[in-house]
Amino acid sequence: MRSLLVLLAVLWVCDAVKFGQLCSGNPSNSRRTSDRWGQGQYGAGRGTRLHQGLDIKCSDGAAVYAPFDVTLNGKLTVYTDPTKAAINEGINLSGQGLCFKLFYVRPDRTSGTVRKGQRIGTMLPMQSVYPGITSHVHVQMCDKSDPTPYF
Ligand SMILES: *[C@@H]1O[C@H](CO)[C@@H](O)[C@H](O)[C@H]1NC(C)=O
Repeated sequence: MRSLLVLLAVLWVCDAVKFGQLCSGNPSNSRRTSDRWGQGQYGAGRGTRLHQGLDIKCSDGAAVYAPFDVTLNGKLTVYTDPTKAAINEGINLSGQGLCFKLFYVRPDRTSGTVRKGQRIGTMLPMQSVYPGITSHVHVQMCDKSDPTPYF
């Protein structure tokens, strides 16, 4: 019984969905840790609320890639604040049974399917809005759950 449970645990871990490379220049999906604007992990403080995504490092202007085979479910606006217009775009995606959003990315296209590793858009100029921040793509699950286990 015990060995069966171990086997099932191993199979479950192997079967778990993992994000492939999201951003050119960051093949390991390394994460934003801490900078003058805050921290990148899920649940970090954001004034009166909590950070609802996970921040993956991505330089301004870098190419953003499909982390696995995905369907594009349209474009998003991130902010209502006009002073953040320069980075106010994102993409809604699904694949591997997950629905998720990428913020601060200008999509190349907003519908159809894209294979893992193909370009889906461009990282927007985050330094122009948040000088000194670790520029990043914000990954947020559509149900607001924690994306960290998928990285
Ligand atoms: C994202 O796409 C999914 C699947 O089509 C949809 O259910 C969801 O409402 C969309 N979310 C946003 C914010 O557009």
